Amino acid sequence: MARDGSAYICQICGAVHPKWAGQCTACNAWNSLAEERSGGPPGGLAVSKATKARGLSFETLQSEEVALPRVITGVAEFDRVCGGGVAPGSAILLAGDPGVGKSTLLLQVCASAAARGARCAYISGEEAVDQVRGRAGRMGVSDASVKLAAETSLRDIVDGLKREQFDLVVIDSIQTIWSDAHEAGPGSVTQVRAAAGELVRLAKKRGVAVILVGHVTKDGAIAGPRVVEHMVDAVLAFEGERGYPFRILRAAKNRFGATDEIGVFEMGDSGLREVTNPSALFLNEGGERAAGAAVFAGIEGSRPVLVEFQALVAPSAYGTPRRAVVGWDSGRLAMVLAVLESRCGLGFGQRDVYLNVAGGLRISEPAADLAAAAALASSALDTPLPQDCVVFGEISLSGDVRPVSRMESRLKEAAKLGFGRAFAPAAAAELGSMPVTGVRRLAEAIERIGAANWT
Ligand code: TYD
Ligand code: MG
Repeated sequence: MARDGSAYICQICGAVHPKWAGQCTACNAWNSLAEERSGGPPGGLAVSKATKARGLSFETLQSEEVALPRVITGVAEFDRVCGGGVAPGSAILLAGDPGVGKSTLLLQVCASAAARGARCAYISGEEAVDQVRGRAGRMGVSDASVKLAAETSLRDIVDGLKREQFDLVVIDSIQTIWSDAHEAGPGSVTQVRAAAGELVRLAKKRGVAVILVGHVTKDGAIAGPRVVEHMVDAVLAFEGERGYPFRILRAAKNRFGATDEIGVFEMGDSGLREVTNPSALFLNEGGERAAGAAVFAGIEGSRPVLVEFQALVAPSAYGTPRRAVVGWDSGRLAMVLAVLESRCGLGFGQRDVYLNVAGGLRISEPAADLAAAAALASSALDTPLPQDCVVFGEISLSGDVRPVSRMESRLKEAAKLGFGRAFAPAAAAELGSMPVTGVRRLAEAIERIGAANWT
């Protein structure tokens, strides 16, 4: 049993448990409970003294005030993902792996917004003022009129922000901010929840846009607290593959705009460069797309992603041909091969088959069937797919190509990344967002690949 005034709190989902347990019953995470003491609300553990209720005062739906204009930061990719600039009084969580470039992005955003006349503050709890200055120097934004502070005390930060009016405030990171009203250590759920709650309230009250930086853990959850996710108005995820310069900004939640927008950046020696034509990054890597490659327009979780399926079909040197697959389900590969053999007359009997999903991603969607089949057929028939083509569609055992979920999002993401056509279920052709070579049967798809006929 926990000591007086303390409880066991899941560090992943924030659920409160009176007793320690090996597994959180709310989110099923293992070893995630930690004992935390709470000084009172908003931790919600201590019972506050009864105060007199004041009743509710109701309002109408019509607003008397004109909505404040958005803060346009001038970093166009960032503004678009936010839904056309940052809304005053809103709280945004920018989540990403350590080292992905969150601080770099936000310093750039502050500098750019300040150059357009916004009053910006950058509060770092992780780096000393000189370190931030050094980065600003490398990025060539030293002249920007951004107010800089290195501070971790919530009380001091809130007090400072009450004394001076800002348009945009960056807190880097929420995990380092610490409130003396709570005994739990910095980075714990209690602390992060208290700090985020206070800063979100301040944002609403003073009409200042607050951007909170949050580090994510290995499994993709926002560290310490998912609790912050539902306190804020928007959650932006900043992602990048190790070893590649490109970074993608996605809105995972946005009360002020669409969530299927993405922003693409390239990390260079002098900070992040906006990539206005991302196809350059993804398409021209190896020049012409080789036979055996097909770009799959997929959905990961709630988000669209494009990945390349690479297949190699080669004569087998052994009695039993090899079937090797990386990043996709081997059972699914066996099924697609069987359908290709029995419904399309494409034999793989004495040939080795290798299938690889580029970039280390693992795909589990049935919508990838057609991309895998197209890559396999393209290799077997030695005909490359068009350079600017994406592929998606589910294949049934009867050899039909079936529509999949969120076809419009897939096409939209593909268009955003510079692709110009799709090879997809016939139903996708009616969406009209890009030229689609619609197919109803896998045999028809294979015929088109063999004949390089895309019209
Ligand atoms: P940073 O913004 O500190 O990441 P985060 O705040 O998400 O932890 O970025 C760290 C990485 O970015 C670091 O490995 C160095 C690299 N970087 C560049 O390549 N070029 C630059 O101009 C800057 C400022 C950083
Ligand atoms: Mg940082």
